[in-house]
Amino acid sequence: MNTVSTLIQQKQSGDKITMLTAYDYTTAKIIDECGVNAILVGDSLGMVMLGYENTLSVTMEDMIHHTSAVSRGAENAFVVADMPFLSYQVSVQDAVINAGRLIKEGGANAVKLEGGADVCDKISAIVKASIPVVAHLGLTPQSVNVFGGFKVQGKSIENARRLIEDAIKVQEAGACAVVLEGIPAKLAEIITKKLVIPTIGIGAGNGCDGQVLVYTDMLGLTTGHIPKFVKCFANAGEVMRQGITDYISETKSGDFPAEKHTYSIDEEVIAELIKEND
Ligand code: KIV
Repeated sequence: MNTVSTLIQQKQSGDKITMLTAYDYTTAKIIDECGVNAILVGDSLGMVMLGYENTLSVTMEDMIHHTSAVSRGAENAFVVADMPFLSYQVSVQDAVINAGRLIKEGGANAVKLEGGADVCDKISAIVKASIPVVAHLGLTPQSVNVFGGFKVQGKSIENARRLIEDAIKVQEAGACAVVLEGIPAKLAEIITKKLVIPTIGIGAGNGCDGQVLVYTDMLGLTTGHIPKFVKCFANAGEVMRQGITDYISETKSGDFPAEKHTYSIDEEVIAELIKEND
């Protein structure tokens, strides 16, 4: 069973942390059985599962619903649930109550929230309530309207310095790990060396203590734009399309269902029924 201590030990020993997103029981079970260290129920579910343009419409109810399904499928992986937009930004009280719901009702082991110095009061309060917090810095999708799109962060000296400061601050506030998204690899390496807590990168190079990817991207299920940092490890989308196309053609031709897919009945019973219904 992976815990906060497992992740910290992995950083110390140089054993890279593996994390993938999941949003449902079946996928979580497969990912867990493969031995991934942590599963993130990301608010990317807004785009991946619900078809929204970005993560901003995702609600606490959406997150609890999907997190509880994932938690039931994950036996060994450390389950982290995203705190959706406006579930923690407004007040410390909201932040603790909503983090608590993801643990109590969703069965998550930790919560993740976006932001640096601006959310440190929320991180400390949630940690005080005995809930592990994963921070998220860099290209934080809930700030898409402030960034003016999904743009790489930390390229200018001021922006890069602020990200380093933010990383130190979230660690001081009690975060147990930090996701670094969409920042230059060399900056992620500096941050990783400065922190005692693990960094988990997505579009942040291989100098991080671990990696996270959206599972639909890395399995070739995503249609439309795929970010540059994604590697497609398998073409599950093609396998699904082929299976569905075969199902349509075999159903239409009558080849499916075959004898082995059907239930039998005693000959006398059927003979009687045929007589009655002739
Ligand atoms: O919501 C999500 O899937 C995430 C990852 C991209 C880190 O936050």
